[in-house]
Amino acid sequence: MPQVHRMFFHYSEFPLSMRTLFTGTLLVLGLAYLFAMVHLYNSHSGRDGSPGMSVDDIAIAYSGSDDATKLEAALLGPMSGMLPTDERGDIVGWVRRGLDEKEYDNRIKPIFDKRCLSCHDGSNPHIPNVDGYEEVAKLAEVDTGMDVFTLIRVSHIHLFGITFIFFIMGLIFSHAFVRPVWFKSLVVALPFLAIIIDVLSWYVTKVFPPFAYAVILGGGLMGLSFAFQWVVSMYQIWFSKYSVEKPVGEATTV
Ligand code: HEC
Repeated sequence: MPQVHRMFFHYSEFPLSMRTLFTGTLLVLGLAYLFAMVHLYNSHSGRDGSPGMSVDDIAIAYSGSDDATKLEAALLGPMSGMLPTDERGDIVGWVRRGLDEKEYDNRIKPIFDKRCLSCHDGSNPHIPNVDGYEEVAKLAEVDTGMDVFTLIRVSHIHLFGITFIFFIMGLIFSHAFVRPVWFKSLVVALPFLAIIIDVLSWYVTKVFPPFAYAVILGGGLMGLSFAFQWVVSMYQIWFSKYSVEKPVGEATTV
């Protein structure tokens, strides 16, 4: 029987009530993790135009997309026959200059009224409404990705929240018997390192999209550590009969 640190207690030494508490916590945390994954998928997949989740989706979420706006795409594509070239140029130029409202009233609105409203006056719910500045502006928004204030808000929520989750998780896991000790400590440390990588790389991805790989790496490491701690803890709480021999007196260095 190997000797272990005198502060170490294996699950099997704990009363049933405590093992129940650990189990309940793990179950709900596991469920929460699944929902987090579904949410991640829903909010990011398909941004690059193809279904499913990819590195591009992550990059676009943070840095935005250089693609033309929906309005420009329509004017250059399917709607190109609806107006003469010079008027199309007027609209595209106005979009590029930043959707000035005065210019809209003076020069742009009449074009929409004349060329588009016969179909796009809002009466057909299947095609976009272009009647009025607000409606047109919605179609002409450039996707600049997540703005910095949103990132800051999400960062502080994640840093606080994830620390709680992995503190609780790590505390439960610390009662598992896992060797070598350096490996066990690494598993405990990993999610904290990962959340720092993850959050910091959001900001880098915003200005340098290829960094989306680091966002995925951070998230992946976190998930790996979570899964390992969850499975090992749950298994040892209920199925491991490991009984440990504690040293009397001085703690051994394990
Ligand atoms: C004769 C009717 C008609 C006129 C006039 C017309 N459109 Fe359309 N428009 C449609 C229809 C139908 C669709 C949906 C089918 C499609 O996307 O081809 C559409 C789609 C669009 C879309 C959405 C494309 C997308 O990707 O979802 C935009 C934006 C648009 N039109 C803008 C305009 C603008 C701007 C004008 C005026 C210059 C205009 N349309 C004139 C019938 C019209």
